[in-house]
Amino acid sequence: MTPAGAHPAGPIIAVDGPTASGKGTIARQLAAHFGLPYLDTGLLYRAVGYQLAQNGGDASRADDALAACRFDDALLAHPDLRLESTGALASQISAHPQVRAALLARQVDFANQVGGAVLDGRDIGTVIAPHADAKLFVTARPDVRAQRRYSEMTQRGVPVRYEEILADIRARDARDTGRKDAPLCQAPDAMLLDNSDMSREQALAAAIAFVTSKLHSA
Ligand code: C5P
Repeated sequence: MTPAGAHPAGPIIAVDGPTASGKGTIARQLAAHFGLPYLDTGLLYRAVGYQLAQNGGDASRADDALAACRFDDALLAHPDLRLESTGALASQISAHPQVRAALLARQVDFANQVGGAVLDGRDIGTVIAPHADAKLFVTARPDVRAQRRYSEMTQRGVPVRYEEILADIRARDARDTGRKDAPLCQAPDAMLLDNSDMSREQALAAAIAFVTSKLHSA
């Protein structure tokens, strides 16, 4: 049942934030909690970045990046999309307006599907679903995000240096917030969820409480 006050086709929940902020985990858990389908839009950009590398393309060239938007959907399940190197490529190709335009309809259609949806990314609350019923901007201090990513990678046995991860996070933040087209920014009506000093459980509880209040408000 669509909660009172929610979008007629079903509630839309937009989760945005910088890299390694925990937005993906929160979005996935919100989708499970509210029984909604979930789209990690970063995966689409990662698929383009990966396809570009496969094509031998140059990430700084808009035509190479646009050609890479024609990827096979099976690629979305490829484990290499999760690599840091793929994330860095995704961040580069995502700055081309042609790439953002090519990926737009797919995301808009997902957001507006009957029954509602949860999407996470950088521009969900600002561009993809400005009419979303509940918007969250999930973030944490760069040093906290770098420390979390460092712990996660070393636990997986990946040899990394904390300083390199922090530098990568800062570079990605600068690219994502500095680009002209759909830059990463908090929508004016989004709840700021800075989880720097919160446990995962506390962050999720705050997110659920906020979304519940939005979906039930007139
Ligand atoms: O969220 P994730 O780290 O997987 O995203 C990879 C990159 O894709 C981001 O750094 C960002 O540049 C780009 N992206 C975007 N818009 C989105 C989702 C991701 O520009 N909605």
